[in-house]
Formats: sequence, structure tokens, C-alpha cells
Amino acid sequence: MHLLLDSGAVDEIREASSWGVIRGATTNPTLLRQAGVEKISDLVASWAAAWGTLHVEVFAAGREGMVEQALRWTSLGKPLAIKVPCTPSGLAVCRELAQRQIPVNVTLVFSLSQALLAAEAGASYVSPFVGRMEDHGMKGVQLVADIRNGYDRTGVSTQILAASLRNPRHVEEVALAGAHWATMPMAVLQKLFHHPLTDDGLQRFSDDAAHLQD
Ligand code: E4P
Repeated sequence: MHLLLDSGAVDEIREASSWGVIRGATTNPTLLRQAGVEKISDLVASWAAAWGTLHVEVFAAGREGMVEQALRWTSLGKPLAIKVPCTPSGLAVCRELAQRQIPVNVTLVFSLSQALLAAEAGASYVSPFVGRMEDHGMKGVQLVADIRNGYDRTGVSTQILAASLRNPRHVEEVALAGAHWATMPMAVLQKLFHHPLTDDGLQRFSDDAAHLQD
């Protein structure tokens, strides 16, 4: 399972990328607003290909507007995936962009039915929102497992991108449930590194290394 940073903050993305463990970033209008991004084209233009794929979400009201936004951003020549909502017009946009070989991430997915529709529309990625489901007492990790099972049984190649992850347990559970990708905020990514026995072992090695020469 590959990891992505769920963030619109370029400094965070640059730092996480320098650790060698992420393959890009997912954004949404809320994350971009929190990061102070005003113009998506500016973020796309500043994107370094070495950071991996940037997932950006169209927000225009109608189908034509969404396609126009997606084409404007992809014309900047960066590695992008275009996020569209799981609605009739969002999936029509998905189909149109997929026919142009533009990778699409169908977002705001909360059921297997929606994931099946996204696959049929040619999505490269489908994003079940695990944390938001669990916030409402629904089984988000189970949905990831169900989508994986449904896709595998029907020969679907759309990749499952587990989103809305709140903690390291979610990351581990979606990996075991068969997600191909997991996106998470910086705070969750940082927690993945930590274990008290690692800290303890490092301290002891550091103490003993003080008596060594290289
Ligand atoms: C990423 O693609 C999603 O937009 C994001 O993970 C949603 O996370 P949230 O439920 O914490 O807002």
C-alpha cells in the first residue's frame, strides 16, 4: 500500500516527501483553504514532479465547468489526478477525462454501489472516506474490504485510495483490508514512525556509540 499526505500545505508536502515514504498528496477545498491556497493553478504550477502525484478536486458547478478546470490544471504538465464527486455529473466528467487518459479519483465514496459506479466510469482511484463513516457509526474499514472484494471478483482495476484516516490504527486496518493507497494528515504520518521500543533502543545505542570510533 502506497502512502499519500492529505494536505494542501506545500511546506508539509515537501518535508514529508523528503522522508521518502509518500508518493504525492491529496487535497480538497477545505484543506486548500486551511493551507491558505487561493488559486489551484498556482499550487499545480509550483508542484515538483519528484513529490509524486497531486490529487486536486474540481469544484465548478456544472459538468462543462468541471472539465474546463481539469483541462486547465492538467495542461500545466504536472503529475495530477483529478478528483470528482460521486454524482451523475461527476461521473460523466470522470468518463470524459478517462477517455483523455487523465487519471481520475472519485471522491466522497461511502458505499460499494458508489465504488462500482466509479469503476464503470473509468476511475483510476476511488476514495472511501473511512473516518467520516466511523464518525457516523458506520464501518469504514469494512467498506474498504468490501470494495476490494467486489473489485477483485469482477476484474476491476480501479485502485482503492483509503481517505479520511484519523489515526495509525486506521492506516494498518485499511492495509489489511486491501487498500492500494492510504492518504493521511501530517500528524498521522508522523505517528506511524513512533514506537516506544524504538525510542528506548535508540537511546541505548546512542549511549554505547559514545564509546566508539567510526
Ligand atoms: C482526501 O482525499 C479526503 O478529501 C480527505 O481524506 C477527507 O478527510 P476528512 O474526512 O478528515 O475531512
